[in-house]
Amino acid sequence: MTSHPSSPELPLAASDALLPAVPLLALDRQNAPLRDEIRAALQRVCDSGRFVLGPDVADLEKELGAILGVPHVIACASGSDALLLALMALEIGPGDEVVLPSYTFFATASAVTRLGATPIFADIDAATYLVDPADVARKMSRRTKAIIPVHLFGRTADMNALAAIARGAGVPIVEDAAQSILSTWDGRCSGALGDVGCFSFYPTKNLGGAGDGGFLTTARDDLAAALRLLRVHGMEPRYYHSLVGINSRLDSLQAAIIRVKLPHLDAWTSARQVNAARYDALFAERAFEGFVVPPAQDARNRHVWNQYVIRVPEGRRDALRAHLGRCGVGTEIYYPVPVHLQECFRDLGWGRGDLPETERAAEETLALPIFPELTPAEQRTVVARIAEFFGAGARDATAAVKEAPADTASSVPAPRFLRRVVGRADDVRC
Ligand SMILES: Cc1ncc(COP(=O)(O)O)c(C=O)c1O
Repeated sequence: MTSHPSSPELPLAASDALLPAVPLLALDRQNAPLRDEIRAALQRVCDSGRFVLGPDVADLEKELGAILGVPHVIACASGSDALLLALMALEIGPGDEVVLPSYTFFATASAVTRLGATPIFADIDAATYLVDPADVARKMSRRTKAIIPVHLFGRTADMNALAAIARGAGVPIVEDAAQSILSTWDGRCSGALGDVGCFSFYPTKNLGGAGDGGFLTTARDDLAAALRLLRVHGMEPRYYHSLVGINSRLDSLQAAIIRVKLPHLDAWTSARQVNAARYDALFAERAFEGFVVPPAQDARNRHVWNQYVIRVPEGRRDALRAHLGRCGVGTEIYYPVPVHLQECFRDLGWGRGDLPETERAAEETLALPIFPELTPAEQRTVVARIAEFFGAGARDATAAVKEAPADTASSVPAPRFLRRVVGRADDVRC
């Protein structure tokens, strides 16, 4: 291991107390002030007896369309289904290739393989973790039928460069905007930048429901019509099927809850941005260079911070995470195994070394708490705990982790009273 620069100082006055726990996500803080409104909305839906699609879903689609600046919004059962439906509407199938990043949630790629098409993985930019347009260009072939950029962590991919590649090849762009609602590129919202946008209402997303849900956006009338059919088994009118679709309808109860939350999304997004700026300042304040690389800035997009992801070089990420876990600080790794190295995709023939920046990110990145209701004291605790790891206590902390049986926080359980707030990986999947 190469030598490290001098240790960072603790970004806290000695008199400041560190908090005993900082959760990765605390949905209860967001939901509590809305409890009465949510209950009333649920009651209204129950009284109406309309539980699938229905007026709440139609109204939600209209409201989202107005906010995002897209003519068509089609709600569906999940972000994963949104991706599948988008590719179905584009008639992607066996023999076709789709270019996409491997540094993403699994669903981006499984939508391609479920239709019998082949994912072709492009590497990411080391600073933004977003798909690298130059590598996308290299991966295009005569068989390429679509490009899927993923607006990862809440930051929009370089849509100018990607649109030029797609135009040149005559292929559509399907935006995976699951993590990026309200992010923009040159002033336009993600989901309004390609041919189809795919979003998720999974509870950890910036606009999360109380279960699974998702939606699609498009300006293309042909795709909107196909998507509306495909989500209901291609059925119109009832029991007459012109297409083979799937059952992917959004429940009215989900739509009603999301409609209560939607008016707050802008303020919640601003709070995430304030929190990100506070982390930036806390990291800049002290000498973290060489220990922690905070997220890069990019003036061309509005980053909505679904995740605040730091890079921890020199093979110390997992030890830092274990230390934070012991201190009650919730973190997550998005994603520990890139899609091209997943066991189920072994037959695709990709191996270690094929996507160097993707593989490095999988080994070095760590998501810190960034949810809107996070307090300054909690953020100072997170950064102080990181400084503690690299500072005076770093040697001890690393030694302790080396003796532990495995190298992740899950193998180092938080004290019993903290487990609920630190959360489990399946509570915070992204
Ligand atoms: C980048 C990305 N794509 C797709 C999905 C799938 O969304 P869902 O969980 O709603 O199926 C998610 C989130 O889970 C995601 O983060």
